Amino acid sequence: MHNIQLAATQIVQQVLVDGRNLNQVLDESLRRKSVWTPAQRAALQDLSYGTLRFYGQLNAVLDLLLHKHMTDNRITYLLLVALYQLQYSKAAKHAVVDHAVRSADILNPKIRGLVNAILRNFLRTQDALLVQATQKDEGRYSYPQWWIDELRMQYGEHATAILDAGNGHPPMTLRVNRRHGTTADYLARLSEQGNGARLIAPDALQLEKPVSVDKLPGFFEGRVSVQDAGAQYAARLLDVRDGMRVLDACSAPGGKTAHILETADVEMVALDKDEKRLQRVDDNLQRLGLTATLLAGDAATPDVWWDGKPFERILADVPCSATGVVRRHPDIKWLRRRKDIASFALQQTEILHSLWTLLAEEGKLLYATCSIFNQENQSVIDCFLAKHPEARQLPIDLPNGALLPNDAHDGFFYALLQKTA
Ligand SMILES: C[S@@+](CC[C@H](N)C(=O)[O-])C[C@H]1O[C@@H](n2cnc3c(N)ncnc32)[C@H](O)[C@@H]1O
Repeated sequence: MHNIQLAATQIVQQVLVDGRNLNQVLDESLRRKSVWTPAQRAALQDLSYGTLRFYGQLNAVLDLLLHKHMTDNRITYLLLVALYQLQYSKAAKHAVVDHAVRSADILNPKIRGLVNAILRNFLRTQDALLVQATQKDEGRYSYPQWWIDELRMQYGEHATAILDAGNGHPPMTLRVNRRHGTTADYLARLSEQGNGARLIAPDALQLEKPVSVDKLPGFFEGRVSVQDAGAQYAARLLDVRDGMRVLDACSAPGGKTAHILETADVEMVALDKDEKRLQRVDDNLQRLGLTATLLAGDAATPDVWWDGKPFERILADVPCSATGVVRRHPDIKWLRRRKDIASFALQQTEILHSLWTLLAEEGKLLYATCSIFNQENQSVIDCFLAKHPEARQLPIDLPNGALLPNDAHDGFFYALLQKTA
C-alpha cells in the first residue's frame, strides 16, 4: 500500500505545486503502473481525488500538527494523503501510519520519526483538531477563501449548501440514445445485469453505483453515453427540429453535440478550437452512429472558418471556470485564481458577440456554462443584451437559468437568446 500512497503523494504535489490537471496526471501515473490491479488503480484514484477534495481541511489540520514549517514538500504531501486515509478511508489506522513511515523512508529517511509522531498525534487528538480546523473557512469548507467569499456574496445563506454539494461524490448518469431504444428498455437491461438505476430526466438514468463503461450493455454499439443530467438540459432547451442547421461552437468532447443529434435530424456543424479534443467528438459520434461536419476553429473569429450560411440554432457551451463541476474535478478548487473569473468572462463575451452574427433571424442561441459564478453567467448576458437591442432573452424552465449542484446533477447555467427582426 505504501506504493499507492507514494504515487498519490506525487499526483497531489504535481497538481498543487505545478498547477497540473488531476485527470491528466492520474492518467499518466496509471499508464506507468500497468501491472497494478483494478483495486490498486481505484485506490490511487480515491487517494488523489479525496486528498484534493478535502485539501483545505487536511491542510488546516496539518498546520495545527506542525510546530514549524516543513522544509521537505514531498513529506507535506505524503502527510496530507495519510491524513486523508486516516480521516476518510476504511483502511486500518496502524497500517496507514506504518505505510507512511515506509514511504517517508524512501523520500527522506531523516524525517521518518517525525512522520510517525505527527500521524500518531493526529490519531490521539483527532476530534479536537478537527473542531479547531473548522474555525477557519478553508478548514471548514475545503475551498479557497476567495471562492467562499464570492459564493456568500452571491448566494447568501445558500452558499453553505452549494459548497458542501461540491464536496460530495458525483453520481454516474447515463444518457440513453433514444434512436436505439427507450429509457424503460435500458432500465430493464441494466436490472438484468444487477445494476440499479432510476430515471431522473427524459433521457437520463442515474446509476446506484458507478460502473466502468465496458460493463454498460450496448455501450460500444452506441446505446448509451455517460453524461451528467445537468448537461442534458442543453439539447432540450435548444429546441431543435428536423432539418435545422445547427452550430455547436465549443463542441469537444461532443456530449451535447451527440445529444442534439440523437434528438433531431439536423445539419450539425461541430466546432472546437482544440484539434485534439475534436478527435474525441469524432470518436463519440462514430460510436453513436451520428454524423456532423467537424471544424477546428476559434468561435471568436468566424471569418476564418464560416461559409456564410446562417444557423437557425447555436449552442455556445463556452470555456468557463468549471466551478459547477468540482465534485468531479476537485483540483479546480485549488487551480483557479480569483482573477481567472474576469478573464473567462471576457473570453465568453467575445465568443458570444462573434457567434451572434452567424445566427439567422428568429434563430435561437443557447449560452451555457458549468460555472456557478454570476460574473460568467447572467452578467455576461446582461452586458450582451445592453448592446444588442435585437436580442431578447427567452424564459426557460430554470430559476434564473441556474442549476445548482445537488444529488441529481452538477452546476450549470443556461440562457436562451433569440434574434428578433
Ligand atoms: C465546456 S467545454 C465543451 C463541452 C462540450 N460542449 C460537451 O458537452 O461535450 C468547452 C470547449 O470549448 C473549447 N474552446 C475554448 N475556447 C474556444 C474558442 N474560442 N472557440 C472554440 N472552442 C473553444 C475547448 O477546447 C473545450 O473543448
